[in-house]
Amino acid sequence: MPELAVWNCSQLVTLAGPARPRTGPELRDLAVIPDGALLVRDGRIAAVGTRAQIEPQLSASAEIVDAGGRIVLPGFVDAHTHPVFAGTRADEFEERMQGTSYAEIAARGGGIRSTVRRTRAATLSDLLASARRYRDWFLRGGTTTIEAKSGYGLSPESELKILHVIQSLAADGALRYVPTFLGAHEVPDEYRGRTDAYIDLLLNEMLPRVAHDHLAEYCDVFCEPTVFPAPKARTILQAAQRLGLGLRLHADQFTPDAGALLAAELGAATADHLEATSPAGLAALQSAHVQPVLLPASVYALGSAHYPNARRMIDLGLAVVLATDFNPGSSPTASMPMVLSLAATQLKMTAAESITAATINAAYSLRRGHEIGSLETGKLADFVIHDCDDYRELPYFFGRDPARAVFVGGNCIYKFSQN
Ligand code: NIG
Ligand code: FE
Repeated sequence: MPELAVWNCSQLVTLAGPARPRTGPELRDLAVIPDGALLVRDGRIAAVGTRAQIEPQLSASAEIVDAGGRIVLPGFVDAHTHPVFAGTRADEFEERMQGTSYAEIAARGGGIRSTVRRTRAATLSDLLASARRYRDWFLRGGTTTIEAKSGYGLSPESELKILHVIQSLAADGALRYVPTFLGAHEVPDEYRGRTDAYIDLLLNEMLPRVAHDHLAEYCDVFCEPTVFPAPKARTILQAAQRLGLGLRLHADQFTPDAGALLAAELGAATADHLEATSPAGLAALQSAHVQPVLLPASVYALGSAHYPNARRMIDLGLAVVLATDFNPGSSPTASMPMVLSLAATQLKMTAAESITAATINAAYSLRRGHEIGSLETGKLADFVIHDCDDYRELPYFFGRDPARAVFVGGNCIYKFSQN
């Protein structure tokens, strides 16, 4: 691959800093280089600096990318998504907006279980085609890595089908994927009233197979009293931990504090949602260094006003992460710029805080902080030219995806065109 130089960046937003997740006031330090430039060799960042510093280092054959006076950021790292499913739930969305609750729809067999029925019926190639369509939505939003959960199969065969789809998507080499096994997303129809029997299936068949075939790096559980209450979630997560998987939890989406306390007890990498978590639950996360993953788009799309308390988390020193929670039920968006807008208006985060949460902190939550999440020498050249003069325009102009060009490992994977 030839040498590549990117210049004429109004702001090169590097996120350079300590090699660990950022907390407190560090979240506001983006290490911006005005009139910045990047040098890329063999898919990695070879030098970062001002244009005047980088220009003399160029070889004659270098390919030049002119950013046109726009901003350049690391690709967003979306650390919580459910990108493989069949069908939509536009019908339930309409119903919810007229007053039926998410919990009522779930209790009558809709919600996650309705997507499970459709996903089970879909072929691997159907799922791969729809997931590639969504892959392009992530890229258009300026995202270059996603954490991708299974969880709409809920049987050995269908969960493996989803994880194989994720494996194929990763092999495409466009967007990067970090796979998570979410076999405990719900209790499937055929196990209603027999949660323990479903947990036996998870422990004895599904988890060992997933670990043996290296199909996931993490295990997640929907920890909620009506789905997998904490004692049952603990059993599943401890089994996953023994098999070498890292842990992430859907925690305290509707009920405090069992999910956060369990995440802290088990030393999970992340506790996600946390809309209902109390100050005591947050303190437990802080002492166990669990990273909170905030999903304001799922609160928004559920029509709720119950956002997580990001300001308190930042004050407590938690290394906050922002993600889309892309899924067909609670959060049908793949747009990180939309999430940054919600982080500003609803979570009261500054533009710098939300960009840090969506890049370097997210990368560390996936054990990828040494490779991605910032523009520093030696890291993978995953970067995006956004059509903004100043990074503060990212949350400010909302309802558009401003990415003009998206590079993964130094390759231009997506270029904006009017068509
Ligand atoms: O993170 N709460 C559980 N899981 C998803 C929603 C999944 C769905 O509704 O299909 C979430 O919000
Ligand atoms: Fe989720």
